[in-house]
Amino acid sequence: MAFTPVDPALFVILGATGDLTRRKLFPALARLVSRGLVGDQFLVLGAGRSAGMTDETFRAQAHEIVESTQPKPIKWCDQCVFYQTLGEGRGTDYKALRDRIERIEAEHHMPGNRVFYLALIPSAFSPTIDALGQAGLARSPGWTRIVIEKPFGRDLESARALNALAHRDFDESQIFRIDHYLGKETVQNLLVFRFANAIFESLWNRNHVESVRITVAESLGVEQRAGYYEQAGALRDMVQNHATQLATLVAMEVPVAYNADAIRAEKTKVLKSVTPISLRDVVFGQYIAGVVDGQPVPGYREEPGVALDSRVETFVALKLNFDNWRWQGVPFYIRTGKRMPERLTQVDIVFRRPPVCLFKSLGARQMHSNLLRMVLQPHEGFSLLFDVKAPGEPMRLKALPLHFEYQEAFGTLPDAYETLILEILTGDQTHFVHADWVEVSWQIYTPLLQEPIEAHPYPAGTWGPEDASRLFPSGEHAGRLISSMAGAGQS
Ligand code: BG6
Repeated sequence: MAFTPVDPALFVILGATGDLTRRKLFPALARLVSRGLVGDQFLVLGAGRSAGMTDETFRAQAHEIVESTQPKPIKWCDQCVFYQTLGEGRGTDYKALRDRIERIEAEHHMPGNRVFYLALIPSAFSPTIDALGQAGLARSPGWTRIVIEKPFGRDLESARALNALAHRDFDESQIFRIDHYLGKETVQNLLVFRFANAIFESLWNRNHVESVRITVAESLGVEQRAGYYEQAGALRDMVQNHATQLATLVAMEVPVAYNADAIRAEKTKVLKSVTPISLRDVVFGQYIAGVVDGQPVPGYREEPGVALDSRVETFVALKLNFDNWRWQGVPFYIRTGKRMPERLTQVDIVFRRPPVCLFKSLGARQMHSNLLRMVLQPHEGFSLLFDVKAPGEPMRLKALPLHFEYQEAFGTLPDAYETLILEILTGDQTHFVHADWVEVSWQIYTPLLQEPIEAHPYPAGTWGPEDASRLFPSGEHAGRLISSMAGAGQS
């Protein structure tokens, strides 16, 4: 968490009555208030289509949401939270929004620092950015920042158009593109792990690393989000952003400084070295009925709102190759899916085996690669696997982990939104996505979206279609870790 003091600010949520506001934003804002991290002059103005909503009814909703926050910021809800209807979202509605913002700021002696958070469905991003600009809301007496949720565009062309529109009225330094994975402590720690521990840097390259395997698995299905997911699929929903961010953080060069410009420049640079993905190196899947956590669950096509003949992928496995000096020839395997056996995000760095097997009596198969497993959620921690001699005769090797768990060392970790909102308020863009990175990322995946790739069925509760094991080698570590590391997952 940043400790830069937070300026007095008005936090405007567009889409204030939506799901994201209720589940993520308001609880995070309330925690920041109750922890005293945002100061006394921190106001929230919810804006939405709902004409029936007033300051009072919005505050009543806010009370319910902050119920679980300790201490409950009830006084803040009553004095610092407001609501403004956006009607049909016409020019006059945005002018009314501007007038309301100015009135609130005048009444509370605010310096005019504003955040506009677009907690909206993706199709509403462009009209809203356009309307804010047209209403003169891109500038203010203080600073103005705009926050845009993912997915940022749905292919290269639309991402470029969205960037161009945003840049019409806002500078890049005002634009905070959210990928909530970048707000997770364990993801932020990837850079600390790499760049604060000198022992790994000399190993972090093609001479020592055989492959990198990234898993972003969920046990949940599509839930009530079919309307969005049918238009997205796993490639757009998880790969282009979350999983590729993880690959980028593992692959990037050492930045010249730990600041937003230096880090974001390295991230974009490394992504530019990814070679076009061959269709042989991609497997799509779609879950069919199966069993998760001992409970029978329906297939994707039986979920509410999903077309009976939907071809949308709920699973992707693919291989990325970075064509640069550090990573030439080292495959980065990515696998993500819904209705997997467990929720698990982890990065495995698989090191090369010793060049010569000294322990000939064992046979080469008994020697394992060293493995660095970074579990990003839910049992956050690291394991570094070594071969050790199991006591006694005959000679046997056993791979055992050096293990660290966040929970044990630090207790519960803050929620990603809490971290990111604080960074927005302090103006730190390090963990936000730069326009260039978004475009390079879409450049990699857009060709796949244009191919008729078939989504192979896989039963819910499994690790994806058969064919995926070819791309995501479960390898020798499967199962061995689980027996020695509670809950760290397996492939
Ligand atoms: C979101 C995706 O960005 O990330 C969802 O739209 C997915 O489909 C979610 O469920 C996963 O986030 P987390 O933090 O639970 O891993």
